[in-house]
Amino acid sequence: MKKTTAIAAALALLGVCVAHAAGDAAAGQKKYSVCAGCHGPTGAGNEVLKYPKLAGLEAAYVREQLRAYQSGARVNATMKAMTAGLNDKDIDNLTAYIVTLK
Ligand code: HEC
Repeated sequence: MKKTTAIAAALALLGVCVAHAAGDAAAGQKKYSVCAGCHGPTGAGNEVLKYPKLAGLEAAYVREQLRAYQSGARVNATMKAMTAGLNDKDIDNLTAYIVTLK
């Protein structure tokens, strides 16, 4: 009985950590409204205007690219401007939403 409780507690704690690491998709969706102008509401991108497709990208990749644009490690003036006002939480939230795009 005690063991079961301990396992349940550990799993609950793990759930909280995973949820935190994954970000808040609902908050990310709100932030995404500005991104949708180029990448499209479903993340399909725009081949003609060379806006990359975001749907189907991995979370770790999306997070890494956003941080890289922000720091200048990945050079693109548009995306540098788009990420300039984002904090780590915004990036996690946006990532959580973007990975839901199909
Ligand atoms: C004005 C148009 C525009 C807007 C608005 C915009 N982006 Fe972009 N985005 C681009 C372009 C152009 C690129 C490709 C840049 C490059 O060559 O590295 C890009 C690249 C990206 C990539 C990398 C894709 C890949 O396959 O490596 C991600 C992730 C991304 N944008 C997310 C976002 C998010 C999140 C927002 C909103 C905060 C946003 N973008 C807003 C134009 C835009």
